[in-house]
Amino acid sequence: MTRILLTGASGFVGKVLHRRLLADRHEVFGSVASSPAPTDSGHHYEVMDICDRTSVDAVIQRVRPTHLIHLAAVSNVAVSFKNPMLTWNTNVIGTLNLMESLKAHAPDCFTLFVSSSEVYGETFKRGELLEEDAACAPMNPYAASKLAAELAVTQYLRQGLSGVIVRPFNHIGPGQSADFVTASFARQIALIEAGLQPPVLKVGNLEASRDFLSVEDVCDAYARLVGVPVGRLEHRVYNISSGSSRKIRAVLDELLAHTTVPIEVQTDPERLRPSDIPVAAGSNRRILAELGWAPATPLAQTVESILDYWREQIAAG
Ligand code: GDD
Repeated sequence: MTRILLTGASGFVGKVLHRRLLADRHEVFGSVASSPAPTDSGHHYEVMDICDRTSVDAVIQRVRPTHLIHLAAVSNVAVSFKNPMLTWNTNVIGTLNLMESLKAHAPDCFTLFVSSSEVYGETFKRGELLEEDAACAPMNPYAASKLAAELAVTQYLRQGLSGVIVRPFNHIGPGQSADFVTASFARQIALIEAGLQPPVLKVGNLEASRDFLSVEDVCDAYARLVGVPVGRLEHRVYNISSGSSRKIRAVLDELLAHTTVPIEVQTDPERLRPSDIPVAAGSNRRILAELGWAPATPLAQTVESILDYWREQIAAG
């Protein structure tokens, strides 16, 4: 029986993945940082602060997971510039607490550690589709903390624990926080349509390009990786990417094409970052060859579903 402990279960990706893992008939324990835990029927939650080793030990001992999927993190690049201590503590110390606890109480547990394509940083400037062996050169505190956590996890894997590291590229969908670009733009359009915001859409850097994926496709990759019998994966690191990148300006244009309300686009200096990866795109050759995974959802469909989600949210008040 597969008993999966899923950290970050109440987050954007966690909710989608929780549903997917239950549909795949796994036993799933979603962990949330603080009480009260959500009460969705058929879902089981544990309250666990990953920054508190005692709290982590209690949950690992109670759940005795066969698999850990570690999603919980400070995942916003802009937030990481403003609050690096919180970012390092959560992303690195939180991960160390989990790995130490597994080593002590559940040494046979398989870990899927969710890192980020952001770890490649400066190397993206080569302008190529990056493979997993490309150099890692983080450009912000979030990316650096994820790379540090990867190194920490790798030490435990060298010592005999089992697991895999994934580097997902930008994943988007309904339910994502408006701290991220597509959700931010869609929310503003919905607010403008509802007459709740003046017809001015605030943006940051529109010249950057990103390799966008639907959150459902990313969760499909995680579910497939967890479904492989322990010890059978050929590699320790997998990119999760589409292999093509799209300008932020093009995503904005796509969103604007779905509205009839006239909207002025205005740069907000607050939304510009001290440094920003200009173009990010990754090769998915490895995961495609080994697991047959490739994204299945057209970006246009995902973008439209995000706008519909925000229209519903705003209509519901
Ligand atoms: N958030 C935001 N808001 N970004 C904007 C805006 C805006 O108003 N305008 C332009 N951008 C640009 C950013 O400067 C960046 O170049 C791009 O849009 C994407 O920004 P985010 O959606 O915040 O994502 P990210 O690329 O910084 O990081 C995301 O992807 C990583 C994987 O590649 C996050 O989801 C990370 O957690 C994830 O690891």
